[in-house]
Amino acid sequence: MTDMNLMEKIVSLCKRRGFVFPGSEIYGGLAGTFDYGPLGVILKENVQNLWLSMFRDSRDDMYGIDARILMNPKVWEASGHVSTFADPLEDGKMFNTMFKTTVGVGEEATSIYLRPETAGGIFTNFKNVVDSMHPKLPFGIAQIGTAFRNEIAPRDFIFRLRELSQMEVEYFVKPSDWEQAFEEWRKQMHLFAKMIGLPQEMLHELEVGDGDRAHYSKRTIDFEFDYPFGRKELWGLAYRTDFDLSAHAKASTVELTYLDEETKEKFIPHVIEPSLGVDRTILAIFVSAYREDQMGDETRTYLALAPKVAPVKAMVSPLLKNKPELVLKAREVRKELQKIHPAIAWDDNGNIGKRYRRQDEIGTPFCITIDFDTLGETPELKDTVTLRHRDSGTQERLSLNEVASRIKTAIE
Ligand code: GAP
Repeated sequence: MTDMNLMEKIVSLCKRRGFVFPGSEIYGGLAGTFDYGPLGVILKENVQNLWLSMFRDSRDDMYGIDARILMNPKVWEASGHVSTFADPLEDGKMFNTMFKTTVGVGEEATSIYLRPETAGGIFTNFKNVVDSMHPKLPFGIAQIGTAFRNEIAPRDFIFRLRELSQMEVEYFVKPSDWEQAFEEWRKQMHLFAKMIGLPQEMLHELEVGDGDRAHYSKRTIDFEFDYPFGRKELWGLAYRTDFDLSAHAKASTVELTYLDEETKEKFIPHVIEPSLGVDRTILAIFVSAYREDQMGDETRTYLALAPKVAPVKAMVSPLLKNKPELVLKAREVRKELQKIHPAIAWDDNGNIGKRYRRQDEIGTPFCITIDFDTLGETPELKDTVTLRHRDSGTQERLSLNEVASRIKTAIE
């Protein structure tokens, strides 16, 4: 399988199985936009929920917000995006990649931008979070949301989009503590990669050189990933100094400082920013999980998704569809397993081999089959089921309790 062949296969599987569709497809699409389908939206939510749990909810020093896409255009003037958020066109001119729109009616109408990064809403709410929550430094503000960039050449499926989602943290520290915080977040990003099943050997750190960093950053590490179209930026970790808070304080004339209660020292905190693109994360998950192997006399396609991110955790099926006693028992089993996790699928279509293949292709880690032995045809096997493992295709005969605990352990 060549690398570009792999991309074609991923794009095709994503559409065929309801993960990702081209945006506005029935009208010929809209470049740089893709929609998540029924399975894709669950995968996306799983990734976001794992991020929220690790980067926000399991920590005492993190606060969430949900700020708007539309902001006062002064935000983007102060942040430097109006003057510098641009890419070179072929003739050498610079093209600002912020999307413009208008708010208001008639003469009242003014031109504003769609936010190019979610970070803007975090900096402008710094004072609100400090005044309402009274956090002790160091602390961070986390947000997941949509950002827009009028990319000159959107490409590579969901890699370079015009409408994208970001999971961002702005972590505020004493100026002297930035290096320690940078290292801590660097480790967290590696842990997150591991949690969602990205192989360590496909992830590479790139120290971004002086001329190549964003205008606000004194140090940036790009987390690059081995995509089929090359080693490309997956996430970024930046030391934004006090650039943003100072710039917004100056432009808004609102004081954006932190008062250290103990030392009575007042200062503008510095910022470490781990910034993770949701869509690039999902593409990295597909790239690392896509597999083909020989099973029996056919080539099988499967997604070796980490059970934590898999949209369906297990599929339950009666061996035969036309035996009411099997169907009844299988429905009972499914209901029982749904107490562990709701995403337990039901499939009684076609033969059992076909059902397994359908689940393999969407990355379901476990399949459970109910047969006459489950009902007690062989007395010592009563209330046992067949548990099939996605990656190896191997099957085990286990009690229902054992199956439940296997699923629980895998997704915890
Ligand atoms: N707040 C910092 C910031 O926005 P960035 O490196 O420009 O920094 C952060 O973007 C992350 O957002 C990237 O590492 C990538 O994951 C994602 N991203 C940026 N542009 C993107 C695009 N056009 N399509 C998809 N994801 C994108």
